[in-house]
Amino acid sequence: MTEKLVTIFGGSGFIGRYLVRHLAAQGWRVRVAVRDTQSAAFLRPAGNVGQISLIPVSITDEASVAAAVHGADAVVNLVGVLYERGKRSFQKIHVDGATNVAKAAVAAGVKRLVHMSALGADQNSPSAYARSKDAGEMAVRGIFPGVTIFRPSVVFGTEDGFFNTLGRMAQLSPAIVFFTNTNPHAPAGGGAKFQPVYVGDVVEAIAQSLTGEGHAGKIYELAGPRVIDMREACTIVNRETQRRRLLLGVPYPIAKVLAVFLQFLPKPLLTPDQVKLLEVGNVATGRRPGLAVFGITPTTVEVVVPTYLKRFRPLQQTKKLRLQAR
Ligand SMILES: NC(=O)c1ccc[n+]([C@@H]2O[C@H](COP(=O)([O-])OP(=O)(O)OC[C@H]3O[C@@H](n4cnc5c(N)ncnc54)[C@H](OP(=O)(O)O)[C@@H]3O)[C@@H](O)[C@H]2O)c1
Repeated sequence: MTEKLVTIFGGSGFIGRYLVRHLAAQGWRVRVAVRDTQSAAFLRPAGNVGQISLIPVSITDEASVAAAVHGADAVVNLVGVLYERGKRSFQKIHVDGATNVAKAAVAAGVKRLVHMSALGADQNSPSAYARSKDAGEMAVRGIFPGVTIFRPSVVFGTEDGFFNTLGRMAQLSPAIVFFTNTNPHAPAGGGAKFQPVYVGDVVEAIAQSLTGEGHAGKIYELAGPRVIDMREACTIVNRETQRRRLLLGVPYPIAKVLAVFLQFLPKPLLTPDQVKLLEVGNVATGRRPGLAVFGITPTTVEVVVPTYLKRFRPLQQTKKLRLQAR
């Protein structure tokens, strides 16, 4: 029997690489649609010889998207950007690109389509990122009504952008900065609230939605077991990197000014739009089903994050660990 074929757009990204490995382990043939096949070659060993193929695609190019979904049983669109740069606007990637994928999936007779959105997707959000995620959902649902949509909170795992950025800050700077709209020492001054969800749980839910029944046309919120605020996230980072950095609560108006400058870095550390997103926070509304539907017990930050924040510890600590292990 021929294994089923899944095309994954954005398969070389943080969540994508876990999904590629997960689906390959389940026996899927995986076609990874990426802009640069050479830099995604690291994905090949995740499967048997020939099980994982790479195809050059830009999600904004209809013809290459159509070629990528040809013959696929299922399609997953994980493509997303956190900031706009040049022609790479939120509209182009989250709405026009997602539209291309949905149209191509219909034309190719694909049975299952999964679209990755984000918690906070809302047409009334102050953040252009969140508004474009909402517009992307609407566009895809209009074309492929059976699409399964996932809205994760901040996703954590070895290669994540969230805890690793804080870890790097703890390593390089005397303070770990977070933003707040009140006294940072007050109980309510811990800044934005999140419900971090483990990447392994996210890909397990996606995998189940590709084969299980009852997921067509559904929107799921994927969130971890606990709500934490930015101050707690920074405290976890301080502890796990074995540093004693000052936790510096900066008011949002100052964050907005900082972001005006930081957005011009080659890889922006912070943009004005991200500050707007942070102000809203990222906690599940509870109005949509979540991981429980898939029988998944959400993994805690405490179990996974220490395993990869170790790399930001002082050098002496790392040396000591190595010597102890001899
Ligand atoms: N990580 C989180 O905490 C989080 C939270 C909520 C929602 N999400 C959503 O989950 C999805 C995946 O997130 P992630 O963290 O895995 O992102 P990521 O690591 O930045 O990966 C994004 C992927 O999109 C690809 N891509 C970007 N522009 C493209 C284009 N024009 N054509 C084709 N591919 C393109 C990238 O490939 P290149 O290597 O070619 O750039 C990369 O493979 C996104 O939609 C994101 O908005 C993530």
